[in-house]
Amino acid sequence: MAFPTETVYGLGAIATNDRAVSRIFHAKGRPWQNPLIVHITDRSAAFPLAYWTDTAEVLADAFWPGPLTLVMTRKVSAPISPLATAGLSTIALRVPAATVARDLLQEVMLPVAAPSANPSGRVSPTRAEHVNDGLGEEVDLILDGGPCSVGIESSVVDVSGETPKILRVGGIPVAQIEELVGKVATRGETDAITSPGQLDSHYAPNAQLRLDADTVDGHEALLAFGPEPLPGAKLTRNLSAEGDLGQAARDLFAHLRDLDAAGVESVAVMPIPNVGLGAAINDRLRRAAAPRSQPTAG
Ligand code: TXA
Ligand code: MG
Repeated sequence: MAFPTETVYGLGAIATNDRAVSRIFHAKGRPWQNPLIVHITDRSAAFPLAYWTDTAEVLADAFWPGPLTLVMTRKVSAPISPLATAGLSTIALRVPAATVARDLLQEVMLPVAAPSANPSGRVSPTRAEHVNDGLGEEVDLILDGGPCSVGIESSVVDVSGETPKILRVGGIPVAQIEELVGKVATRGETDAITSPGQLDSHYAPNAQLRLDADTVDGHEALLAFGPEPLPGAKLTRNLSAEGDLGQAARDLFAHLRDLDAAGVESVAVMPIPNVGLGAAINDRLRRAAAPRSQPTAG
């Protein structure tokens, strides 16, 4: 079943059930080596599943419930399908804040493994219609909670070791994390793939994106940001006329989908300030613009 969280819609399965979890991988066409996030109601539900570190405690205190996923060392006794964690010694845990997600977790009283509810490698869904468009044939039930309030996936932070590491920038700005735990390593382009969802081409719309544009070519549509959209585009969508990064994050994936639906082939994207949620927006735009020949995941 698909359900809304504050970040994006997830495709959920009871995380203790191998068969249910394997259906997620089939439905999305997701590589088996890419682990899923396990969603829980609160911190106490994490105790049987993972070992806590000091950083994990600090970050969970500050940001749970919310758009933060913590990667911790998995307890051997954790009753979670090894498919969900892709056979790794770690487990990714998240306590979502959205009411529908919380109600669902309360109701099932078990951990729910849920990746974003899109075919692997495509743009994540932020509305129920998006789930239906991408996975309508595969999914038997979609809970409609309206548009997601954050609109960009959770920040994934590895807190299993001595020093925390950001594996995916997301709904919690890096500066807010660093305020609490000091300077945090962000996953560099050259690192080994410790989070398989970090492969390059991802969040891919059909249209080709050209980033940091300061002009628009005649054949391009424009994805604008701010009060002064560049002139000359055959079609313009503005992420936020007020220059509000929260609004831009909320609507980013819907705009990419709308441009595809309009049959646009190339899109010039105006620069987005790389602060706060801007870093996560720019990360998703870079992946959406990456060459398509590379493997995809997620
Ligand atoms: O906002 C979100 O996080 C949404 C909602 C539904 O919660 N979920 C989501 O899931 O974005 P997904 O599967 O699309 O992305 C999960 C990311 C992937 O990059 C995956 O590789 C990483 O988390 N991940 C999961 N378990 C991991 C682990 N044990 N170690 C490292 N990375 C892990
Ligand atoms: Mg995903």
